[in-house]
Amino acid sequence: ASGGTPIADLTGRHVVVSAGGTRERLDPVRFLGNRSSGRQGYALARAAVARGAEVTLVAANTDLPDPAGAKVVRVESTAELRDAVLSAAAGADAVVMAAAPADFRPVTTSETKIKKADDGSAPAITLEQNPDILHELSTHRTQPDAVIVGFAAETGDASGSVLDLARAKLARKGCDLLVVNDVSGGAVFGSDDNEAVVLGADGAVVEVPRGSKAALAHVIWDQVHARFR
Ligand code: CTP
Ligand code: CA
Repeated sequence: ASGGTPIADLTGRHVVVSAGGTRERLDPVRFLGNRSSGRQGYALARAAVARGAEVTLVAANTDLPDPAGAKVVRVESTAELRDAVLSAAAGADAVVMAAAPADFRPVTTSETKIKKADDGSAPAITLEQNPDILHELSTHRTQPDAVIVGFAAETGDASGSVLDLARAKLARKGCDLLVVNDVSGGAVFGSDDNEAVVLGADGAVVEVPRGSKAALAHVIWDQVHARFR
């Protein structure tokens, strides 16, 4: 379904897609964030609308036009993303976590702007881990038949290849599908193209050659659709 007019094979399905990068406030003017553009998540939302789904897009700090036909919920932090995704996931047939949630947040947020000290010293920022939304969705399933999809951008390292790490992440997260980007050769942030391998908890391995984010989105929905009961 990657070219031409897609078939409406997601008609009657409610799908939730998260996109963008969350921000954790340090003070009224500063945050910890990441460079996720949200483009892959938006492409997923547009593709699902085109295939007939009811789509909720939970968007974290994106600067992209709202996909026509999708319900867009805007969030800033990982905690807000969690609340919005969990509430949209109740009653959803699929949840795709394309967002890049900040893994850590400052333990305290200053209500006033943090000022420089005269002695040249710098403040220490103590972080704590954010909740893992994908893990929570996958391990406390309120919709046992919902198909849950994660994303992972990996570089291989001494402990294993990209696919080894991805396979371990899929098992650790407990999701049904994991879309893996090999970012060893440099980041893909903000790019129009994507290249990926889609791994299934059922052992499936689908290699998606370099192509548009729209094309990858359609392959992901094909894989989700194949797992609907
Ligand atoms: N994810 C999530 N909640 C988090 C962090 C990540 O739901 N707090 C989701 C992402 O949206 C993505 C998947 O988990 O779909 C994998 O994200 P990734 O950052 O690769 O996983 P982490 O468990 O955070 O591992 P790492 O230490 O490699 O960052
Ligand atoms: Ca992470």
